[in-house]
Amino acid sequence: MSRPIRIILLLVGAMALVAGCRREEPDEPVPQTGGPSPYTLNIPANLPPMAQPADNPLTEEGVRLGRFLFFEERLSGDNGMSCASCHKPALAFSDGKAVSKGIDSIAGTRSAMPLINAGYGQFFFWDGRASSLEQQALEPVTNPIEMHDTWPNVMAELQADAVYPALFKRAFGTDQIDSLLVAKALAQYMRTLISGNSPFDKFRRGEGTISADAQAGYTLFNLEGGAPGQLIPVAGSTPVIGQGGADCFHCHTADAGLFTDEQFHNNGLDAVPADAGRAGVTGNAADLGRFKTPTLRNIMATAPYMHDGRFATIDEVLDHYNSGGHPSATVDPFMKFTDPDMELGLDPAKRAQIKAFLQALTDEEFLNNPAFQDPGPPQL
Ligand code: HEC
Ligand code: HEC
Repeated sequence: MSRPIRIILLLVGAMALVAGCRREEPDEPVPQTGGPSPYTLNIPANLPPMAQPADNPLTEEGVRLGRFLFFEERLSGDNGMSCASCHKPALAFSDGKAVSKGIDSIAGTRSAMPLINAGYGQFFFWDGRASSLEQQALEPVTNPIEMHDTWPNVMAELQADAVYPALFKRAFGTDQIDSLLVAKALAQYMRTLISGNSPFDKFRRGEGTISADAQAGYTLFNLEGGAPGQLIPVAGSTPVIGQGGADCFHCHTADAGLFTDEQFHNNGLDAVPADAGRAGVTGNAADLGRFKTPTLRNIMATAPYMHDGRFATIDEVLDHYNSGGHPSATVDPFMKFTDPDMELGLDPAKRAQIKAFLQALTDEEFLNNPAFQDPGPPQL
């Protein structure tokens, strides 16, 4: 018998022994199924199915643990800040501030993003620098302008807790807590934050109605901007014919019910962006001032708006789009009205209709969902 095979056999034997000993412990009942129970996501019919990573499938135990961790202040350097400090359920998991402050009261330069249907996302953060929720969840803990802690410190604190090791054991089969498992549990909880029961959704599913204004607003949302029949130039592409609409659908794509195209655009906020946005990640000058298109679900609950929270109200946002925004080398071709002589042309009646539509995206069941709220201290 060769040496490696002997070592493997020895290891297998040792593992069997350990497993055998565990099974004999009378006071620790081992569930018959031997693992955590799958968690069934309740996805409304007008939203697409949600893919889950093969190495982190949703389980009841994982989601429950993730919820405790999301509200856990021991994840921060002064044990006074949790994820929920900046991502509050009642504000669709945003924080109501233009830019967020961390434990050292140092203000960041970006606004806390709402967490809505994040499980569908392919890129996270305003600049898309994380490509999974698991990867994203590792960052705030050590970020000096957020929770400013160290992973060894956090892991030691959780490991020393009376309950957490058992919760990790139930969710992941080990009571040895590490940062990757914390991130996996947080990601599982965040995948359950699904919003799809706004009045607009119920209207789409034929379960209810929304006002005539809101319906007209939805139509405008999905029509090209510019006077009907007018030929509107699109940089680097064929011109489009104006339809008197609001032009929002190009980026806040409504078809799949997600209101984002998961792409990065410069929506004309600045001629010279103070924040490089996507270019800070790719190093590509063409990405200057490009940011991830945010969803518009629950938008009435997530003011102030944009990556730096510069607009306090939806009216200010509509003013911006109506003016066309600032021209620049990287402004999106679909911002077609940056020429100072041109305007999108939303009159007060149209603006009121678009606002009524955006209001119909407020999902009270999501904002008040008991399953998303602070569960209190961890419990078995
Ligand atoms: C101090 C406030 C603060 C705390 C605490 C905080 N966040 Fe955030 N969060 C932000 C800000 C600001 C952004 C946007 C940052 C950026 O784009 O650079 C963000 C972005 C995110 C995103 C990206 C969402 C998207 O659609 O791309 C996720 C997910 C997220 N945070 C989850 C968490 C989790 C999980 C925790 C706890 C481990 C946490 N946050 C703690 C402020 C905070
Ligand atoms: C060219 C693509 C594009 C078009 C067209 C567009 N948006 Fe946006 N929108 C974005 C991007 C990208 C952001 C984030 C920009 C940032 O923060 O720097 C954004 C941000 C927003 C926000 C703020 C969201 C938040 O969470 O802070 C609102 C509200 C909004 N858009 C509404 C609209 C409406 C209404 C229309 C149509 C009148 C529209 N958008 C047209 C790409 C677009």
